[in-house]
Parts: sequence; structure tokens; C-alpha cells
Amino acid sequence: MKHLAILALLGMVASAQAWAVPDGNAAQGKAKSATCAACHGADGNSQAAMFPRLAGQHPDYLYQALTEYKSGERKNAIMSGQVTNLSEQDMADLAAYFGSQKGLTLKR
Ligand code: HEC
Repeated sequence: MKHLAILALLGMVASAQAWAVPDGNAAQGKAKSATCAACHGADGNSQAAMFPRLAGQHPDYLYQALTEYKSGERKNAIMSGQVTNLSEQDMADLAAYFGSQKGLTLKR
């Protein structure tokens, strides 16, 4: 019984780690965003229709998109090259930075 309890505990720790998303730091993200700016704009407001605007997007969405490019789940030749050397922390920081920028405002 004791062993079972320990195994259950280990399983919980392992799964918590698998799902842990690092807290993004926008200031760190800004420092890491120089290469992204060439296409997406310095503040994430891209000027070209072929590059999506990142400014004001939900950080969770941006983080998920980046991790999916990295895992290959989302395929894009340009972006897969961009994320190769990014850690999970880098991606969380970048998501926090671009998500905190002022994006397009809805006209109501
Ligand atoms: C050479 C141009 C280029 C560079 C540099 C670049 N991107 Fe992209 N990015 C693109 C293109 C093109 C797409 C659209 C790809 C697609 O259709 O999936 C994209 C898509 C994205 C998306 C998904 C947006 C959405 O609305 O789903 C995110 C997030 C993103 N880029 C973040 C970044 C970050 C962060 C960096 C810097 C580490 C970066 N990009 C660097 C061209 C670029």
C-alpha cells in the first residue's frame, strides 16, 4: 500500500511538471523579440498582411502557437525555424511581451 501511495504521488508530480507553463516576463520578452520584430513589427503590430499581428493577442494563445511550431504540430516553414532555439521560458516571455502590447481596437 505504501508503495502505491508513493507511486501515485510521483505520478502527480510528473504530470504537474508536464503541464507547467512558465510565467512569462514581458520585459524579458521584449529583450528577446529583436528577431521577431523584422516580420511582426517591434510591438507586434505587423505592417504586412502576410505576417500576423501579435500585439494584444492572448498570451496563452501566443504561447500555445509557439509550442506547436516547436513540436511540429503546427507546421510553417518560416516559424518552425524561428522557434528552434527558444526554451519554454523564452516562449512564455515573448508571449507575455507581445500580448501586453496595444493591438487593434474593435470599432463598436
Ligand atoms: C521571417 C519572418 C518571421 C519572423 C522573423 C518571425 N515570424 Fe512569427 N510568423 C511569421 C509568419 C509568416 C507567420 C504565419 C505562419 C502560419 O501561417 O502559421 C507567423 C506566425 C507567428 C505566430 C502565430 C500567430 C497566430 O495568430 O496564430 C506567432 C505567435 C509568432 N509568429 C511569433 C513569433 C515570434 C515570437 C518570433 C520571434 C522569436 C517570430 N514569430 C519571428 C513570420 C515570422
